[in-house]
Amino acid sequence: MPNTSSDPVSVEWWRAAVIYQVYPRSFADASGDGVGDLPGITSRLEHLADLGVDAVWLSPFYRSPQNDAGYDVSDYCDVDPLLGTLDDADALIRRAHELGLRVVVDVVPNHSSSEHKWFQEALAAGPGAPERDRYIFREGRGLDGAKPPNNWLSMFGGPAWTRITEADGTPGPWYLHLFDTTQPDFDWTNPWVADRFDEILRFWFDRGADGFRIDVAHGLAKAPGLPDVDVDPLRTGGEWADDDHPYWSRDEVHDIWRRWRRVAEEYDGDRALVAEAWVRPLNKMALWVRPDELHQAFNFGYLMATWDAAELRAVIDDSLAAFGGVGAPSTWVLSNHDTVRHPFRLSLKEPLPHGIGIGPNSPDRPDEAPALARGRAATLVMLALPGSAYVYQGEELGLPEAIDIPDDARQDPTFFSTPDGVYGRDGCRVPLPWEPDAPAFGFSPTGKSWLPQPASWAEYAAAAQLGVEGSTLEMYKSALTVRREHGLGTGNIAWNESIDDVLDFTVSDVRVVVNMSDEEIPLPHAEVLLASGPITDALPHDTTVWLRA
Ligand code: NOJ
Repeated sequence: MPNTSSDPVSVEWWRAAVIYQVYPRSFADASGDGVGDLPGITSRLEHLADLGVDAVWLSPFYRSPQNDAGYDVSDYCDVDPLLGTLDDADALIRRAHELGLRVVVDVVPNHSSSEHKWFQEALAAGPGAPERDRYIFREGRGLDGAKPPNNWLSMFGGPAWTRITEADGTPGPWYLHLFDTTQPDFDWTNPWVADRFDEILRFWFDRGADGFRIDVAHGLAKAPGLPDVDVDPLRTGGEWADDDHPYWSRDEVHDIWRRWRRVAEEYDGDRALVAEAWVRPLNKMALWVRPDELHQAFNFGYLMATWDAAELRAVIDDSLAAFGGVGAPSTWVLSNHDTVRHPFRLSLKEPLPHGIGIGPNSPDRPDEAPALARGRAATLVMLALPGSAYVYQGEELGLPEAIDIPDDARQDPTFFSTPDGVYGRDGCRVPLPWEPDAPAFGFSPTGKSWLPQPASWAEYAAAAQLGVEGSTLEMYKSALTVRREHGLGTGNIAWNESIDDVLDFTVSDVRVVVNMSDEEIPLPHAEVLLASGPITDALPHDTTVWLRA
């Protein structure tokens, strides 16, 4: 186990932690079936300890039919056989703790899988049974109830409602699913649901989890009466919503988080809760991390910012002010399993909505080398900022977005639920390359891989970068060392005067200069601690340097 709260080292560890997201299907496959698994993760944990991160966040590994890559959970207290066993989960948590890494697990409270026994019981119990009240069943509109109860759309395309057939063969009511049709939404006004989730939290806290990442933490409360809304998620950027929305960011969710905070506080060791919540503006987002609610929230405002100095500075200031205003640290994140990997995303001519990817026919295909240079420059901004940073697996290798995945290999429900096959999130989920010459680049002993790996990924393999000066992996390692040694995560930021398209700020005793212009600029005279790319006495464009202040 990591230190307990009586040890000063661990006091509120999450305030400045660097947390590495493992996407279990794609990290390392020990069984050889082409899908990553828990023993695979355990076998590679030393990579993360060497990298220098503080914690690991595991995306869902629970029992699941895998229609949404595990975010469709059919048993929250068991491991999917595809990924291992409960003993494997225990072994993973134990090994991580031995290595000094904390473990954050995912919890998916907005919806379960339709294969979850709670939903199956609700279907079987029939009309009017209390089991139906666990989920959101409503009669349809129109003659014979043949139209969905309202006009809400699924995040993956198509209506957010599916009609059931009762046991006697008659058409029944509809159930709500803001995501895939196999992901029915819970009814959080029913105390039965809240009680079950308390048990789930305790189950994983008891097994040693140091925290939870909470899926769709802005979506659990729905407006009474479920009124229509005029939003097409695939056209407007999905889960963002402005005021008074019937299902996003409603005030009623805060009582749920207060309850969860109380559960977390039953345990020692500063257990932490982090919200995946697409809420804007940032000062509204900050409501999720008030002292009696969650500890952290992902800063999607930062993730969505484009590569523009003024925009970046504004979002940094707003974040620190908004989160700081409620006594919470800001978080910073550039990549995750739902978004085009940041070197490519920051190089697109037009920003893409969250959840939408790039595919073979996309007109906007950034070039790999300049995109990587920009991505590395962005990383050295993020890792210098005070607060907690999230690193998505593979970004430490500089992985590009995988664009040329053939249609018949695609897996993301978005591709299948939209009429024209909108490219979803497969490109950022391709299994990691570990060794340049091994089958599946060391991801799997058999060479299988649930999404195809581009042939060019040999050069990105971890083993090909380890110890190589200037490699992306070595840059991340150095950055995390400097960050720790200079206390960047707990420092304060001061902006230095700068010309347009250049960011210049100091945190602790580190001065960070970011050249976002098209031309090189003179490099200030100071000791160079780290640079995101080659420098001389000039700082090339799309390069960040850390200098001793
Ligand atoms: C957010 C998760 O990050 C995403 O991968 C998932 O599809 C949705 N929530 C639904 O659970």
